[in-house]
Amino acid sequence: MARLPIWPTQNDFPMTKGALKIAIAGLGTVGGGVVKTLASRHDALAAQAGRKLEIVAVSARDSNKKRDFSVGSLLSDPLALASSDADVVVELIGGEEGIARKLVETALQNGKHVVTANKALLARHGKRLAEMAEAKNLQLKFEAAVAGGIPIVTTLREALIAHGVDAVKGILNGTCNYILTEMEVSGRGFADVLKEAQAKGYAEADPTLDIGGGDTAHKLALLSSLAFGTAPDLLNMRVEGISHITAEDIGFASEFGFRIKLLGVARQTYDENGAALGIDQRVRPAMVRARTPLANVDGAANGVVVDAGEAGSFFFSGRGAGEAPTASAVVSDLVEIARGSFGPVFGRPAAGLKNLVPAESGASAWYLRFDVLDVPGVLAEIAGRLSDANVSIESMIQRGRAPGEHVSIVMITHESPQDAVERALKAVAASDKVRARPCMIPMEAA
Ligand code: NDP
Ligand code: HSE
Repeated sequence: MARLPIWPTQNDFPMTKGALKIAIAGLGTVGGGVVKTLASRHDALAAQAGRKLEIVAVSARDSNKKRDFSVGSLLSDPLALASSDADVVVELIGGEEGIARKLVETALQNGKHVVTANKALLARHGKRLAEMAEAKNLQLKFEAAVAGGIPIVTTLREALIAHGVDAVKGILNGTCNYILTEMEVSGRGFADVLKEAQAKGYAEADPTLDIGGGDTAHKLALLSSLAFGTAPDLLNMRVEGISHITAEDIGFASEFGFRIKLLGVARQTYDENGAALGIDQRVRPAMVRARTPLANVDGAANGVVVDAGEAGSFFFSGRGAGEAPTASAVVSDLVEIARGSFGPVFGRPAAGLKNLVPAESGASAWYLRFDVLDVPGVLAEIAGRLSDANVSIESMIQRGRAPGEHVSIVMITHESPQDAVERALKAVAASDKVRARPCMIPMEAA
């Protein structure tokens, strides 16, 4: 019987190249995870890269902070890393401006490859930074910046390219998904669950970026760029977060057979003759049908659906935030650099990335919730305003009849354009029978 070859150990590999020298700025959730992974997986990673991966310098803000890993001496100035003898600078500080941007720019100017998890920086300055890197034949890699451990950046840049992409959509923020899941499953309050997400290292330094939809917007801008060959564009994107979603909305969603998820969606739109019009990018909470794959992405996990033309539709899911999954993505970028794999940052030469042409995609059905006084005529008034805007109602629920007190009226509409629904709700909100701004959530097509 033929014997299977025994897989060689790292010591059996001829290490033809010297070690890849790595400098890491930021030793928080992600940076700490990268240091630990490089240490614990040292030999296996060297075997995969064909050379050792060696940390030569690290930097963090507070040299007295207790950390659950050991590193040599810590530099307080991250910019010192850009003039160290490192081959690669790993930026894990965060923020779209300030020291993170300065470090990345200086590292590239000084001929260092860069790996970063900083979606805010790349969504804002990605095209220019990619041009800087490509002009010097350097790598600027960012697998960790979108969807944590899911290799969606590499997938869009290198794998799903043959037939083009029609749409990419997904749950891209672990913090929001954790909050929505916990509110539904355990009935806990928003603020309480957000605190827990922060303690687990999921949230951004400024958590309003998570719950306001900004972090999802940053990630969507990067996915859109990779999918459609456009420069990352945050300006042509409608962005809405989850802070107005109540436990009541989550309960109603469940009754209708849906779950509420914060989705980022980027879609190529076409005219009636099939000619491309532009890209529709939006971030907003959506009602997702309960049995679909995205509806079942729970906790801090992320999920991404890519519609790749004739190749079909693909679904990816996995851990989207936190130490180990994010470190996994950063380390995979380092191994690619160690191997010498080179390609354009966004999958096309950066100078050729087009400006995004915005185009709205079609109408959708809507979940509407009105917090009203239970007085005669209120329902007729709402129905009248919707009818004025040509929005037709498919179904309705009213709860807690207690004459004179406030109640929730929930409606599902037929397919209607967003601006028509917004016009109707603005008119409804002006009524003295309505107690709060009405809530509108699109029903996501399967
Ligand atoms: P943390 O806040 O946990 O860590 C930030 C690190 O940067 C800390 O080590 C901090 O030093 C250091 N730092 C902050 N400001 C400065 C400064 N002015 N000068 C020098 N060092 C500084 O952040 P995360 O690890 O969570 O996030 C890092 C990056 O990764 C961000 O861009 C984030 O968006 C991104 N990211 C995070 C994910 C996550 O799950 N947490 C997932 C994917 C991406 P000190 O330790 O001394 O305070
Ligand atoms: N704050 C981000 C999230 C980290 O919650 O998804 C991962 O990018």
